[in-house]
Amino acid sequence: MRILLTGGLGFIGSAVIRRLISETEHEVLNLDKVTYAGTHTSVQSVSDSNRYHFSKVDIVDGPAVTDAFASFRPDAVMHLAAESHVDRSIDGPGEFVQSNIVGTYEMLQAARSYALEADIMDRFRFLHISTDEVFGALSPESPPFDESTPYDPRSPYSASKAASDHLVRAWHETFGLPTLITNCSNNYGPFQFPEKLIPLMILKSAAHQELPVYGKGDNIRDWLFVDDHAGALLRVLEEGKPGETYAIGGNSERTNLEVVQQLCDLVDTQLGDNGARQELISFVADRPGHDLRYAINASKIKDELGWEPSHSFAEGLAKTASWYLENEWWWRPLLTERYEGERLGVTT
Ligand code: NAD
Ligand code: TYD
Repeated sequence: MRILLTGGLGFIGSAVIRRLISETEHEVLNLDKVTYAGTHTSVQSVSDSNRYHFSKVDIVDGPAVTDAFASFRPDAVMHLAAESHVDRSIDGPGEFVQSNIVGTYEMLQAARSYALEADIMDRFRFLHISTDEVFGALSPESPPFDESTPYDPRSPYSASKAASDHLVRAWHETFGLPTLITNCSNNYGPFQFPEKLIPLMILKSAAHQELPVYGKGDNIRDWLFVDDHAGALLRVLEEGKPGETYAIGGNSERTNLEVVQQLCDLVDTQLGDNGARQELISFVADRPGHDLRYAINASKIKDELGWEPSHSFAEGLAKTASWYLENEWWWRPLLTERYEGERLGVTT
């Protein structure tokens, strides 16, 4: 297949590209705006391949997106480009409306015109990668989210992703575009920008800095190792049914405090210096509108497409901690030039 992938210099998109180039015969065009979250170093292990192509495009730029379709002539789209950090959506929601909503609209329009003109509507695929955060917040007792959970987004990030999901569904129902939607839980793993909980805590704890846990640390996330997510996305693209949604999760619910404590212990062990890093944990002002719990029931993708995560949380977390401790070449320039680890997303 010829796959037009958006957001491939980011965390999940780069994991998908590394897998597409190293484990399949597919050819990829990566469209990315190269925001603060995008870096070519995340795909440098495969970027010499003649099956990898890159074009610097802001997906909000409709004519540029249309040109990319016309020149690359894809069989499928994997749409990951988005602003992705809840705290930044509190500080500056406008970019989220532009990239996540308007950008998805431009992708859908360009895909629809291209598939019609090329007369490949039946076999074309448009996979939209979304989040479980569109479903809102669960109480500790509620059953996990699944494909029938009503939308109830509560942050500017999740509201913009929910809007994009609605557009994708509308383009399927109204215009017959063969779309697929995935809603996945929190990812972690190598090459994640160090503003997100897990990489931030690894790097701060390694440097003996305070570890800011929001509120009481009792918020719960369902963690999935990024390479498992990449595998699920390829499975949905190749075998999913157009018009369907697939919920993807890791069966690994943890409180934030548990995650940070486990990371402190891993970093202590891996650096071999008995740094007593749990003492660096500091409870700080909560995130405004902080969703209490996310969790996914992933039985549909397991039963219908035979996908299950292959990493346990303990394995994935240990791999991730080692990767950050061994790959300063990747994260040091980001911390120096783009984000120094300061608190984001406080409204007062
Ligand atoms: P990321 O922030 O690491 O990367 C986003 C990429 O998109 C960057 O390379 C950035 O340059 C690019 N981008 C942003 N705006 C763009 C625009 N207007 N035009 C072109 N490129 C643009 O994000 P991520 O964590 O890799 O997430 C990828 C997708 O997966 C997002 O759609 C996100 O909503 C979804 N998702 C993420 C998670 C998670 O835990 N990270 C979980 C479920 C779903
Ligand atoms: P994050 O990685 O930003 O993902 P999301 O908000 O999409 O779930 O945050 C994960 C959880 O960790 C979330 O409950 C907020 C919390 N958190 C902290 O406690 N401290 C931090 O410094 C960060 C970045 C997040």
